Amino acid sequence: MMPVKTIEWVGDADGAARLIDQTLLPNEVRYLDARDVETMWEAVKMLRVRGAPAIGIAAAFGMYLAVRDATPICRDEFLSEVDRAAAYLNTARPTAVNLSWATRRIQSLVAANEDASVSELKELMLEEAIAMIEEDNAVCRAIGEYGAALINDGDTWLTHCNAGGLATAQFGTATAPIYTALEQGKRIHVYADETRPLLQGARLTAWELQQAGIPVTVITDNMAATVMAQGRIHGVIVGTDRMAANGDFANKIGTLGVAILAKEFNVPFYVAAPTSSIDMTLASGDLIPIEERRPEEVTEGFGKRTAPYGVNVYNPAFDVTPHRYLSGIITEKGLIRPPFDMGLQEVFDQERAS
Ligand code: MRU
Repeated sequence: MMPVKTIEWVGDADGAARLIDQTLLPNEVRYLDARDVETMWEAVKMLRVRGAPAIGIAAAFGMYLAVRDATPICRDEFLSEVDRAAAYLNTARPTAVNLSWATRRIQSLVAANEDASVSELKELMLEEAIAMIEEDNAVCRAIGEYGAALINDGDTWLTHCNAGGLATAQFGTATAPIYTALEQGKRIHVYADETRPLLQGARLTAWELQQAGIPVTVITDNMAATVMAQGRIHGVIVGTDRMAANGDFANKIGTLGVAILAKEFNVPFYVAAPTSSIDMTLASGDLIPIEERRPEEVTEGFGKRTAPYGVNVYNPAFDVTPHRYLSGIITEKGLIRPPFDMGLQEVFDQERAS
């Protein structure tokens, strides 16, 4: 069964970006049609659309929506509107580099088409955002192929958060090897950490794997040590919101703990990282900006108060896993083994040369 489409464009140039509202899953499958940039900004901020690659695609549609009705008197005025839209969208969430990667890509497209009229530029922007969906599907498919080679028939793998189809246009990064392994006829079982505080593992990963017919077992985050100690886990695979040039990477809070456990119990630990999530301008992971979110996500996470009013709360949405915990980085260009700084540099050198 094909994973659901997380985001798509519906209609002609006057249409809308259609998103599955992930805050309602798994209880309700409801779609949201974003017709203006403010709706898209809110959807990203509130995690209606979330996961690094999906955020990037949403931002690209947001860029188009921001200028769709603009009637500038000259090209320069239009370029300023495009820049304003990028600056606005970039404020929605700080950690996933795909957001600024996508807005910059649309800005560069507009800047490069010097002879195009404003209406032609708008058309190009929409085409580019739509093309990013197909591109994301191809990237995830390639990650799936490289990653599936690491999975043996009968394996059980553990994942944290949701780096699945719901976090991309359709196939996911960390789940792509699992979907591909299944297509190859391998039997695979997945343990999904529930992923406090917002339960992306329990609500989203479990839901989408179940939809795809993949056996999945949900555990609370503090059970990961036990299942590894019991020898139930053959490999761990997670996604990333931003990887630095040395292979350190940010992912959902709790990933670092899983990485440390995997090392202790000799379980191979992989990250699926599309090149759009790799930030070669940052030398190491301590430079990655980490989003802090509202305290209520921790104190009222289950729809009722679970901590006393007035208590101090610390709620970082992501942590940084040092590259020394990694067995490998799975990109759409191939599997990178240590030394990761050299491997990542090679991937980007090849990309520049092609
Ligand atoms: O806060 P979220 O739900 O956007 O966090 C998502 C993650 O941490 C994912 O693992 C990451 O974005 C990779 S998605 C392919």
